[in-house]
Amino acid sequence: MSRIAYVNGQYVSHRMAGVHIEDRGYQFADGVYEVIAVRDGELVDLDPHFDRLDRSLDALEIAQPMTRGALGVVIDQTVRRNRVRDGIVYLQVTRGVAPRSHPFPPDPESALVITARAMAPPSAAIIEHGVRVVTMADIRWGRCDIKSIALLPNILAKQNAVESDAYEAWLIDENGIVTEGSSSNAWIVNADGALMTRDLSKSILGGITRSAVLDACAEDGIEVLQNGFSLAQALNAREAMVTSTTSFVVPVVDIDGSQVGDGRPGPVFQRLRALYMAHLNPR
Ligand code: PDD
Repeated sequence: MSRIAYVNGQYVSHRMAGVHIEDRGYQFADGVYEVIAVRDGELVDLDPHFDRLDRSLDALEIAQPMTRGALGVVIDQTVRRNRVRDGIVYLQVTRGVAPRSHPFPPDPESALVITARAMAPPSAAIIEHGVRVVTMADIRWGRCDIKSIALLPNILAKQNAVESDAYEAWLIDENGIVTEGSSSNAWIVNADGALMTRDLSKSILGGITRSAVLDACAEDGIEVLQNGFSLAQALNAREAMVTSTTSFVVPVVDIDGSQVGDGRPGPVFQRLRALYMAHLNPR
């Protein structure tokens, strides 16, 4: 089956889909994005993704490409036309096309691109045995809460992880505190048994998965310390894990070559994973 993309008002063959060379996303990374999970044909946590998209657009003064209702229809159509049952939607809004010049163009018309594709969830081996992470200095800008398409530091970090045979790179701020992963949020169960993930601020992206896991924890009576933890604390942790739209909840068993806890996914991970899978499969 040939893939279909939505590009500025039209459904086009994915192979032929393109944007103008002076799209500000292409020239300046002047845009934002969302990645939304599709589970059994349904969009997961669509409203929180829309809320975050609104916050990103507002922060950059990029106009909404269309109403939320219309956007929902177009996303749904893109999922159906690609017959995605389990996978992801990628949605990108840029400040549109204008002759290259740094200031906002006088009459910007936001550009919207949406793709959808099947994607397998993390493998059974990953869930059973866990993954390795490496750490790197966080060299990103001061507004990591905006889901900007400008991802060079994240790309460099992930490439470093891949070259180190690791699943993810955790980014460390100038105070030695873990901010988040290159494309996921970071969690530990510290040496005292407290579950920790960094508090929301301009230093991290407020993950939709992070938020769903926090809600599930609250409902389940699991206390979470929303506080930054240091690399030293992570290296002494009993357990560690990452959350994201594409990873769900994945256990981390090795940080920079140092074993986490007993080197196996632990009980808190198992509980969080079960809670999140129940959130994904409500029926
Ligand atoms: N990344 N932090 C960063 C820097 C991210 O890029 C992501 C998501 C997350 C987790 O957010 P969420 O739970 O909403 O997926 C945290 C997406 C998946 C990506 O860039 O592909």
